[in-house]
Amino acid sequence: MTDSAKRKILVTSALPYANGDIHIGHLLEYIQTDIWVRFQKSRGHDCYYVCADDTHGTPVMLRAQKEGKTPENFIAEQKANHERDFAGALIGFDNFHSTHSAESKELTQGIYLKLKENGHISSKTINQLFDPEKNMFLPDRFVIGTCPKCGSEDQYGDNCDNCGATYNPTDLKNPRSAVSGATPVLKESQHFFFDLKGFEGFLRDWLSSDNHVQPEVQNKMNEWLDDLRQWDISRDAPYFGWEIPNEEGKYFYVWLDAPIGYMASFKNLCDRTDGLNFEDYWNKDSNAEVYHFIGKDIIYFHTLFWPSVLKGAGYRTPSAVWAHGFVTVNGQKMSKSKGTFIKAKTYLEHLNPEYLRYYYAAKLSSKIDDFDLNLEDFAQRVNSDLVGKLVNIASRCAGFITKQFDGKLSTIIAEPTLLNEFMEASDSIAELYEAREFGKAIKQIMALADKANAYIAEKEPWKLVKDDQTKQEAHEVCSLGINMFKVLVTYLTPVLPALAEKTQQFLNLSSMDWSNAQNVLTNYKINKFKPMLQRIEMKTIEKVIEASKEDLAAEADKESTKALSDPIKDEIQFGDFDKIDLRIAKIAKAEHVEGADKLLKLQLDLGEGVLKQVFAGIKSAYNPEDLEGKLTVMVANLAPRKMKFGLSEGMVLAAGPGGSDLWILNPDEGAQAGMRVK
Ligand code: 2FM
Ligand code: ZN
Repeated sequence: MTDSAKRKILVTSALPYANGDIHIGHLLEYIQTDIWVRFQKSRGHDCYYVCADDTHGTPVMLRAQKEGKTPENFIAEQKANHERDFAGALIGFDNFHSTHSAESKELTQGIYLKLKENGHISSKTINQLFDPEKNMFLPDRFVIGTCPKCGSEDQYGDNCDNCGATYNPTDLKNPRSAVSGATPVLKESQHFFFDLKGFEGFLRDWLSSDNHVQPEVQNKMNEWLDDLRQWDISRDAPYFGWEIPNEEGKYFYVWLDAPIGYMASFKNLCDRTDGLNFEDYWNKDSNAEVYHFIGKDIIYFHTLFWPSVLKGAGYRTPSAVWAHGFVTVNGQKMSKSKGTFIKAKTYLEHLNPEYLRYYYAAKLSSKIDDFDLNLEDFAQRVNSDLVGKLVNIASRCAGFITKQFDGKLSTIIAEPTLLNEFMEASDSIAELYEAREFGKAIKQIMALADKANAYIAEKEPWKLVKDDQTKQEAHEVCSLGINMFKVLVTYLTPVLPALAEKTQQFLNLSSMDWSNAQNVLTNYKINKFKPMLQRIEMKTIEKVIEASKEDLAAEADKESTKALSDPIKDEIQFGDFDKIDLRIAKIAKAEHVEGADKLLKLQLDLGEGVLKQVFAGIKSAYNPEDLEGKLTVMVANLAPRKMKFGLSEGMVLAAGPGGSDLWILNPDEGAQAGMRVK
């Protein structure tokens, strides 16, 4: 490629919040972005994919407190978890950084100072709800109360889950702090505002030109543009974030520094990469392209605030912001209780990431429609397309090449016109990838796979090979088959990088770049074919669902075995305590539960012939055989709970942070099954 044809491209996905686990809903976006980036790289462009953890804000601060950790330690642990999950899903970031980094601080404060210097920042005093016990202002989501419209209880301060009304937290009836339970009071505070309204003209131009946003987004934006307001970019201490220069006790709202995290991550990459220059990509005259992939819920931030902030601070603005829809599973919102809220970790413990990458690609378009992951269709599609069609081409042909023809492809390819058709599809498939029409690209690739299979089925090389007269033809047919397979895998490399790597080894190729589709392999030694992909069994998917339900149970358990630094729960009366029947129980039997990763099934002897069955989440700490005969304390009168594995008739008390550090309380000698603990 000539230097002038080489594009400079910077690509980002939305930064995941540090206080949450990566789930399959997130993965849609990272996979979509990763496919587009891998495609650009395979075409020879300078394309960089950066991301980071979104670490700041009240929820992270409170979550770290709750876990008895410093925010810095908490976000470091989460970053390691996120990186593990992304690597597992084959997301090939060039850099995964953090918004709690030196680059982020410098850029955020620098951008703010430039905005201020250019007259885009003002300040005023506002009234906000304040938690008098915790001594902190409360974000809307941390105020709970009764909906002013429908009277539904326990609603958040910004909108009602029941009737959908939106309101201010001060409108809630009987408001209370979600942090301490205290009744909030109104308190004044000085806040800093970014003059979004002043960017209306710029935004109208930007949104209507050069495909900066998708057409369906443009319509929505036009409504928002009629109602632009000043944007509150400050928060009061205590807050985990960056302090506003020269404004003691005031911090930048997390949504100001979050998108600056894209720049910070890239800066961090530039600082350790020879020849990569931050200014080339971000100065206002840059000819590089910058693309943000995001979910449709954060369009507002990325298409109004972010371009305006960049513009106001003298940087270039994004080339485009591309939004996708939400993931539903089996036609419904992901649900923890149904086991369809599937964490990346849980998925990856059971299933190959390329299945999901393929299914997402096969159904993705450039639109923002929601995406349904139908689990049966998922299994069926992957099995039929990848195992039944794609890999089948190689597995049907490779054995003959190895056994009958000394591992060498023929000098002449049967039917060059057929192979040409495969090679000539390169441009149209590339255009579809470029336009993020992955579903259409896959459709075209699979139509070619059908052709390859039909050709092989028609020629029946397994018959041709048996007769000396036709053996040469078998060689040429199978060699064509391997060549067609190579072209198809090349086109699928952005989606299936691991399968591409296996193909590269199988075919001794130096690269799987896009142009690799155009080299015909003749008189060429290949390696022995090894199975590349297993079929998905529905029972494996069921295991994922069950494990996701268990994740939920484990989270509930974790909630009940919190760290020592947890605030003591609300006071209860003696009568409440007296209701709990704590008993010494002897563990009569302990066994593994088929299909459960975290639970053990216990038979607890409460004396006098009373036996109770309890499922306890202590498998990480104990082997069943070590438990039998031991005494423990149990809540004997807990209402039975029906679990997937059976009825659980109580709760065993254990202490510790979790994992293998979990201790069943062993009562002193002299304790006997059935004794009351009080
Ligand atoms: O919505 C979210 O998950 C945010 N953490 C996304 C931030 S994207 C960017 F602006 F940093
Ligand atoms: Zn309501």
